[in-house]
Amino acid sequence: MSEEFTLTQIDTYLQRLYADADSVRLEMEELARQRRFPIVGPLAGRHLDQLARMIGAQRIFELGSGYGYSALYFARAVGPAGQVHCTELDAENIRLAEMFLSEAGLWERVTYHQEEATAALARVGGTWDIIYNDIDKVGYPATIDLAYWHLRPGGLFITDNLFWHGRVFTGAADADTQGVIEFTRQLFAHSGFITSIYPARDGLAVALRL
Ligand SMILES: C[S@@+](CC[C@H](N)C(=O)[O-])C[C@H]1O[C@@H](n2cnc3c(N)ncnc32)[C@H](O)[C@@H]1O
Repeated sequence: MSEEFTLTQIDTYLQRLYADADSVRLEMEELARQRRFPIVGPLAGRHLDQLARMIGAQRIFELGSGYGYSALYFARAVGPAGQVHCTELDAENIRLAEMFLSEAGLWERVTYHQEEATAALARVGGTWDIIYNDIDKVGYPATIDLAYWHLRPGGLFITDNLFWHGRVFTGAADADTQGVIEFTRQLFAHSGFITSIYPARDGLAVALRL
């Protein structure tokens, strides 16, 4: 048996295993395909749901929410008493999120802030069980201390796109790639977090807040 296999093979295999009849999830994925919109996808999405349930998360703050695909997983995981706060600059994405998450019966658990994400977290304040980070990559390094101060000990700082579609491997010079590389370096060096990267799709960092 060959010991060489690719991330694409792993993704294809797991996506078949994870297939379900969740009509809202499938509609949101279809829209992402049509619009070439970057969602976290079903493999990492299931991981988000599982992590939230593992720590009994009730309060989740998302930095960069689009039309609510990652929030769909979190809103299910927190249960009826939980809250998911989302941030997004684009009004059309917020309208779509309301449509999809209402269809899923989850809109009451979700609050959208139409505001720059880190400013919204600083303004809303409070202590969170999970902070999920998916903003423009050039802004990644500035999220680390902000997340640290707004997470409870035992909470999780989860960040998407740590491989940045492979650009981190070659060290491309653009600001977004450099933002992801610098973020990863600082997060691994941070004494307030224990961090690992889950390598499905585009690399999901999971940092335990000490
Ligand atoms: C990569 S998409 C991901 C959406 C969602 N987390 C998901 O997995 O489906 C990131 C979204 O965050 C928004 N965004 C990016 N940077 C932002 C910022 N600094 N503040 C607020 N929204 C931001 C973008 O408009 C986009 O809709």
